[in-house]
Amino acid sequence: MPIQSSAETASRPNVGLLGWYAVCTTEYLTKDAIYYFSMFNEPLVIFRDQNYKPKCVKDFCRHRGASFRGGDIKNGEIICPYHGARFTSSSVNGDNETITCTHIVDKAYKNFAKHVNLFQYPCIEKGDYIYIYYSGKAQTRLEDVKINTPVDHIQPEAYGFELEEKEYEQAFIDFKCDWSRIIENHLDILHIFWMHGNSLPGNEVNRKTIKSFNQTVHKDSKHLRSVYTEKDGSKDEFISQIFIPPGRVVIFKGATDKARYIQVLDHIPLSNNRARIIVRHYRAFMKNKLLCKLIMFKQRQLRTFYSIFSEDYLVLQTQTFNEQMGYMKQEKNMKLLSEDKMIKIFLDWHQNSLETDNPWDLHPTNSNTNKIHQDLLMEYPPANPHHANKIRQFFKYSVTYPMLSLLIIFVTIISLRYGPELISKTLENNILPSIELRN
Ligand code: FES
Ligand SMILES: [Fe+2]
Repeated sequence: MPIQSSAETASRPNVGLLGWYAVCTTEYLTKDAIYYFSMFNEPLVIFRDQNYKPKCVKDFCRHRGASFRGGDIKNGEIICPYHGARFTSSSVNGDNETITCTHIVDKAYKNFAKHVNLFQYPCIEKGDYIYIYYSGKAQTRLEDVKINTPVDHIQPEAYGFELEEKEYEQAFIDFKCDWSRIIENHLDILHIFWMHGNSLPGNEVNRKTIKSFNQTVHKDSKHLRSVYTEKDGSKDEFISQIFIPPGRVVIFKGATDKARYIQVLDHIPLSNNRARIIVRHYRAFMKNKLLCKLIMFKQRQLRTFYSIFSEDYLVLQTQTFNEQMGYMKQEKNMKLLSEDKMIKIFLDWHQNSLETDNPWDLHPTNSNTNKIHQDLLMEYPPANPHHANKIRQFFKYSVTYPMLSLLIIFVTIISLRYGPELISKTLENNILPSIELRN
């Protein structure tokens, strides 16, 4: 049954592709760490200043245009690797407005340095996430970045979720594919049965249980919400998804305020054919930290995340190619199902936002552009199998070998405790003479 599009897409969220993105996490951005990423081809850096506040700057030193890669953070100052220029955030009326050079070469440049500021974007920390407001035009004074929506609009709490009491696991995952294909994947429940059935726990979702669903989509100026229910009405909603533009998807089962398991996925459009996801699973169970450590809960979760995303990866890349070739843009080529309603509305929003915001035209690259940043950015599996392998190795050495060691220790203790008794009983039963006789 093809879906009807005109009425469904009559209204859509009024936030486009420029806005608040969760791009990093508290756990990842430690003191003295430099976090590299990019937005729509523009390389950026996040670090913590002297007040431990996250700062997002363009990865571009104002002296002679070097990247901060290979640079350093000392006492909250970011230091360029080329000639050692140091930059620090300055407080004006309590707000850190500029990130200014405090030193370059020697004292002779003291006054010169005062007038050299880095380009930056608004950056805040909330709920263990680091958010930036991406406008595409970094400014030396933060107040010159025009913010159109408050960051609260993309908080899960704004949609009725209670996250405070919940534990979570998270992972960063990079893909060499188009950003919007990954969101489309996360709004697609049918592929979960077919593609991920083997990797998911339980028997409820697999190739044998794949079926069609009823789907309703709610829209307002801030978000899209899709609810899937069983066609026979035998159960409550099967699953719900919320798309909060520009880059956040929340997936959960059951009522919003009672959901025991909430998945928050943040999608970062790094560059052409490059995207990063921060996947976070909140849970209202398995909250005992010691127990989680003992059963290696985090490692198990990470292994499942990586398996699932690896399963998706080839399709995401081939779809990216087909989209770039224009095959998917032609509506007559695409025969969508009823369950693809949310995807259709998302794609419609995406196309409209591309035309309105033109984010890929803000920092365009071409085939001659040096790909150094694109190559360096790919850090996480599945784009980097080396990291995936490290997780596998970790699991192998941290679980298999300790279990084997425990087994050996157990057998040794039992042998020492009961071994002599067993030998003397054996001797008593005259087994030894019978062996001698056979010899
Ligand atoms: S380019 Fe950064 S200090 Fe010279
Ligand atoms: Fe998937």
